[in-house]
Amino acid sequence: MSLPDALSRLPKAELHLHVEGTLEPELAFALAQRNGVRLPYGDVEELRRAYDFADLQSFLDLYYACMPVLVTAADFHDLTAAYLARAHADGVAHAELFVDLQVHLGNGVSADDVLDGMTSALAAAGERWGMTGGVILCVVRDRPVETAHAALDAVAHRVHDLVGIGLDSAEVGYPPSLFVSVFDRAAAMGLHRVAHAGEEGPPAYVREAVELLGVERVDHGIRAVEDPDVLALLVGRGIALTVCPLSNVRLRAVPDLAAHPIRALLDAGVQVTVNSDDPAYFGGYAADNYAALLALGFTAEEFAGLARTSVRASFAADDRKAELL
Ligand code: HPA
Ligand code: ZN
Repeated sequence: MSLPDALSRLPKAELHLHVEGTLEPELAFALAQRNGVRLPYGDVEELRRAYDFADLQSFLDLYYACMPVLVTAADFHDLTAAYLARAHADGVAHAELFVDLQVHLGNGVSADDVLDGMTSALAAAGERWGMTGGVILCVVRDRPVETAHAALDAVAHRVHDLVGIGLDSAEVGYPPSLFVSVFDRAAAMGLHRVAHAGEEGPPAYVREAVELLGVERVDHGIRAVEDPDVLALLVGRGIALTVCPLSNVRLRAVPDLAAHPIRALLDAGVQVTVNSDDPAYFGGYAADNYAALLALGFTAEEFAGLARTSVRASFAADDRKAELL
């Protein structure tokens, strides 16, 4: 078996995946037609040609522009089911999916339709392939904090359908410290906590996420490599990073793969996992992100170690983790 094939077979957990970032152009146009919504692109080719990003914000502009095609529970089901089938083919046995609920509420979609669609697709993947996973409500940090509280209000009657709370969108200028009230409330509701930090923002944001929000994992976190004290904090607390190599290259968080700090993070003793972030936009799903590291000389043993770390860093039940390790 070739090494790329072997990478698809490694049982792994995907821990950094925005469900809206799995919207392939063909599905975007099919849903636009189904719902009578106009996309600001003429066709699939024009949309795909627009996938040339200068930074996080230029990606987010396009990503949010496509979201209004998601209207009904069936749309969220179909989107999630398509991702889970693709992830299963890549050896993803457990998937924790972010959803930008504030954006969908702002588009007039109900929280129940979003969660009904996603949880029914997860349940079907569980029945079909034994996959496990869950939904993480991701706070959209460049929207008013009150709208994050409104999103928590909207899910309070079915908090058992969520595994956690996260923090995403435009990072610089929106430090984790702004969201302490939201994360405290989510923790009191029994949710796990994670946050994007140190993708474009400074290492100080990684420290805030850990010390002020109480996160158990940091999403991206690659700029922690710039501050030995922040690295020591992550290592000391055993906090894993959910690194997304192809995303970092596409959004120019790093100049190229050769300059990616993943090996420096591992050498510093940080728990590192590999994930796909927004695979429809960044040129690859889970196994493609593992395979990208072949260019950095990662060995079969190192890949197996990354996959094991992803399982350990997941919010799967202990018996499920034992099954996958
Ligand atoms: N960073 C921040 N917000 C996001 C991302 C990301 O990589 N993808 C989708 N929302
Ligand atoms: Zn992300």
